[in-house]
Amino acid sequence: MIIILNFGSQFAHLLARRVRDLGVRAEILSFDASLEEIRKYNPSGIILSGGPASVLEKNSPRPNIEIFNLEIPILGVCYGHQVMAKILGGKVKHGSHREFGKEILSIKNNTGLFSSLSKKETVWFSHGDYVEILPKSFSKTASTMGCDISSFENKEKQFFGLQFHPEVTHTIHGEKILKNFVFKICKSKKDWNIQDVTKNIISDIKKKVGKDHVVVGISGGVDSLVAARLIHKAIGNKLHAVFVDNGLLRKGEVEQVSSYLRKNGFKKLHVIKADKLFINRLKDISDPETKRKIIGHAFIEIFENTIKTTLKKFPIKYLAQGTIYPDRIESASSSKSVTKIKSHHNMTLPEKLGFKILEPLADLYKDEVRKAGATIGIPHELLWRHPFPGPGLAVRIVGDVTKDRLKILQEADAIFIEELKKAGEYEKIWQAFAALLPLKVVGVMGDSRTYEYIITLRAVDSVDGMSADWHKIPNPLLEKISSAIIGKVHGVNRVLYDITQKPPATIEYE
Ligand code: XMP
Repeated sequence: MIIILNFGSQFAHLLARRVRDLGVRAEILSFDASLEEIRKYNPSGIILSGGPASVLEKNSPRPNIEIFNLEIPILGVCYGHQVMAKILGGKVKHGSHREFGKEILSIKNNTGLFSSLSKKETVWFSHGDYVEILPKSFSKTASTMGCDISSFENKEKQFFGLQFHPEVTHTIHGEKILKNFVFKICKSKKDWNIQDVTKNIISDIKKKVGKDHVVVGISGGVDSLVAARLIHKAIGNKLHAVFVDNGLLRKGEVEQVSSYLRKNGFKKLHVIKADKLFINRLKDISDPETKRKIIGHAFIEIFENTIKTTLKKFPIKYLAQGTIYPDRIESASSSKSVTKIKSHHNMTLPEKLGFKILEPLADLYKDEVRKAGATIGIPHELLWRHPFPGPGLAVRIVGDVTKDRLKILQEADAIFIEELKKAGEYEKIWQAFAALLPLKVVGVMGDSRTYEYIITLRAVDSVDGMSADWHKIPNPLLEKISSAIIGKVHGVNRVLYDITQKPPATIEYE
């Protein structure tokens, strides 16, 4: 397997996903992971990821220097390339400006990392600093017009550096470079395929849980559904599923998910209808963070209550969660650096209840969760629903949440999604939804003047939700969606399409 030391989580995740796509296990560790931690995995190679810092800054992140004595191949990418050069005695300099975009790479020898590539390759750069002088016993292996030492190697030690990013698709043969590193240089074996991974998850749950019972919260989303089905496969009716219907889910979702689970043998599914409670508690609340907290607390309260009453007689020891790999890496690093932009309540419940945590998806990326779900027979339509935030439609109604607004939004959203599906556009998009702006504007319908709400449509392309671009929905389809919403949903007289990227906007409105 390959260890990726994390100097900036988006970069590290992309590298890990690429390595796994090659069929080799990849794990992300903190940039300063101890040798002991690294050795536990017995890696065949290490990749130092890119990151936003500059090695020339005081206190910029550094790996444990001892990794260079482990006698395993190391590949530095961008920041990783610079930090390796700097630590091993080379010199890094600030460039006069930040270089960003595609460049033509001239390769000296098509061996090692570059074997089976051409002499000229299109690669993608994003950097401010560059390596000016190499450490002793290192040699330059490629350059571009703007960056002389675009890559280097120390053949004897099997250390390599790339100033550009092989993990992004703009680097045309980036996958080949990573393949060369993983298989030719590190001699890794293929050990990561989703069928085996899924089987192992199920047998691990069996072993871990034994005779105990498990409770899982069904949120309506893909992750908790896949987690629940995997656990059910492992322990059958010792799994108790609690689905809190907070009235904030997408149209028809509670019925769709609960009838699927019932049909698939879930005997202990408790759907708790609590829409009134949620709407009452949200009355006159317009601050986004307050809304999130209210929803999080109400959920915990109902969940706890169900466990203490309905499920009291069962020997429940575990609380299962649909936490996936990026959530785990994000929350581990957030204590170090990341500032809180929005509070997610998913990670706080188990300590309160005194349960042990069971996280069957904790090693998987979203696409792997979907693949695992498919291997155990979850229908495509359920697996390919777009991500949905814990606080649900409450963060898609800007300002006060009312019953009327919820109904309008659910209808508009359902039409939007249905039209995207009919046009074959839905699965090209990372996340699409409607949101309601609490403004009333003037329109005209027939002979009369209307005074109704604005619906805004958001559809974004993204890899992991950390950054996103607005999806280019074809104009005729946009027009069709707008007419359908205005025609069918009472209370809306204007539809907007959001063309903002993240950053600076977030995906959700609150
Ligand atoms: P933002 O709005 O921060 O969203 O750009 C990034 C991704 O996270 C989802 N999201 C949430 N998911 N609980 C969740 O489980 C939450 O509180 C939450 N808030 C945002 C959002 O839908 C997008 O996919």
